[in-house]
Amino acid sequence: MPLGRTSAVALLGLTGEIVEVEADISSNLPGFVLIGLPDAALGEARDRVRAAATNTGCEFPARKVTVNLSPAALPKHGSGFDLAIALAILAADRLVNADSVASVVHLGELGLDGRLRPISGILPSTLAAARAGATTVMVPTGNADEAALVPGVRVVGVASLLEAAIWHGGEYTPVPVEPILRAAPMGAAGDNLDLSDIIGNDDAIEAIQVAAAGGHHMFLLGPPGAGKTMLATRLPGILPDLDADAALEVSCVRSLAGLPVGASLATRPPLEAPHHTATAASIVGGGSGVIRPGAAARANHGVLFLDEAPEFQRAVLDALRQPLESGLISIHRANSVAHFPGRFQLVLAANPCPCGQYGARDSECVCAPSARRRYLARLSGPLLDRIDIQLRVARITSATMRMADEKQRADTTTVRSRVVSARAATAERLGATPCALNSQVPGPWLRGPHARLGPSTTVSIDRALERGGLTMRGYDRVLRLAWTFADLDGAQRPTADHLGRALYLRKAISS
Ligand SMILES: Nc1ncnc2c1ncn2[C@@H]1O[C@H](COP(=O)(O)OP(=O)(O)OP(=O)(O)O)[C@@H](O)[C@H]1O
Ligand SMILES: [Mg+2]
Repeated sequence: MPLGRTSAVALLGLTGEIVEVEADISSNLPGFVLIGLPDAALGEARDRVRAAATNTGCEFPARKVTVNLSPAALPKHGSGFDLAIALAILAADRLVNADSVASVVHLGELGLDGRLRPISGILPSTLAAARAGATTVMVPTGNADEAALVPGVRVVGVASLLEAAIWHGGEYTPVPVEPILRAAPMGAAGDNLDLSDIIGNDDAIEAIQVAAAGGHHMFLLGPPGAGKTMLATRLPGILPDLDADAALEVSCVRSLAGLPVGASLATRPPLEAPHHTATAASIVGGGSGVIRPGAAARANHGVLFLDEAPEFQRAVLDALRQPLESGLISIHRANSVAHFPGRFQLVLAANPCPCGQYGARDSECVCAPSARRRYLARLSGPLLDRIDIQLRVARITSATMRMADEKQRADTTTVRSRVVSARAATAERLGATPCALNSQVPGPWLRGPHARLGPSTTVSIDRALERGGLTMRGYDRVLRLAWTFADLDGAQRPTADHLGRALYLRKAISS
């Protein structure tokens, strides 16, 4: 008996590899075996595929069916191999055109009724198939939009196994079925949040502009109701649109996370705001079987906002150190390592103490001094070390509110265009270095000959360094921020004023 062959895609993180699916039919006692390191969900494919074939009217032969997924050493997870397995078997029995089946990559899960269910990770899978040279990819109707985002491959959307078999030349009578669709994506979070909603708080508004322009991580400290959450959720809005590569990466992660992707790539930076009870796995990614991206990967090219940061488990905060350092999230398993991109902008918000009132006007803190100290100490030094902007946010007073009406307030669109030009200025200046944003510039470069500032400019921070009010690391952070201020102002290099403002943006906790 000849073999039936086709291919599917196994995903590990965002990288996909072509899996060859072979089916053999022999005249032994009827049975069905699946070999080639299938996990539990894939093992269930046996029963699902058989029932789907029977119920949709393309019955399998009553002989022994052996399906092999190779390369065997490649971990394979999930239910996306169903369609390929079913068609390989039909091809082995010559119920469909075997050459046609062999030339197409098949992705999709079958329901018991033979309909195809949309699966997560279609975008990275189709991309992997296209990169491996596939010309045609067959996917569930509910995923066809998403697969079609990949240029250079023909995407065939089918609603059921029967429809797929007929497409491959099977002589069956078509039975129209209702395709299983996915929910359409909702608008990006924070679409309707405008910067002009914020009254007063000029320092904080300046700080988030600087954060956006330089890609600086940010820590906001202030009493309840000071508007920390309000500020942080407006940061994605003032970030520039995603470029083509970033858009593809963001959409691929969404696809793998099982979030709706829709018919166009994401163009706006994402915002992820996990709750403080989140586990480390839900932030960095994990899960049994398929390794799913966590909030940090979903925030790639956007903002990861940890509200009430000291309430997060220590393990969660520490797990963020690797992506902050390398922009990459690695999840290790016994037989594999999955990588996700993790270049997010981190925003932490915290109250100054457990009761939240410490340092606020018109209210009194009831926390013991030791409790107060322990509270912020939960944010580990190594984490805070990577955060350039550390700002105290105060509650606005009724006087500020009255005055605010008379003042022109910055709106999201205007600020975004300022951020875009500042980033362009940075990119031009840093052209020869591997950095694109001021936050990525290493200390030695900042103090090196290309960037040297005159002693009259740096006098304020030089003095702070001398007095011990500023560490060397803090000194570099102030310089980084000062360059962002200069880029925002269209200046050639930072002035003493820029340095003064930069120094102010990191006064929240220590001096
Ligand atoms: N500067 C401001 N301009 C306009 N509204 C403000 C301002 N500050 C606070 N508010 C109002 O107060 C509400 C609470 O603000 P927000 O939730 O951002 O505070 P918070 O600092 O995050 O507090 P918590 O520490 O309790 O989380 C907001 O929904 C907003 O309506
Ligand atoms: Mg809040």
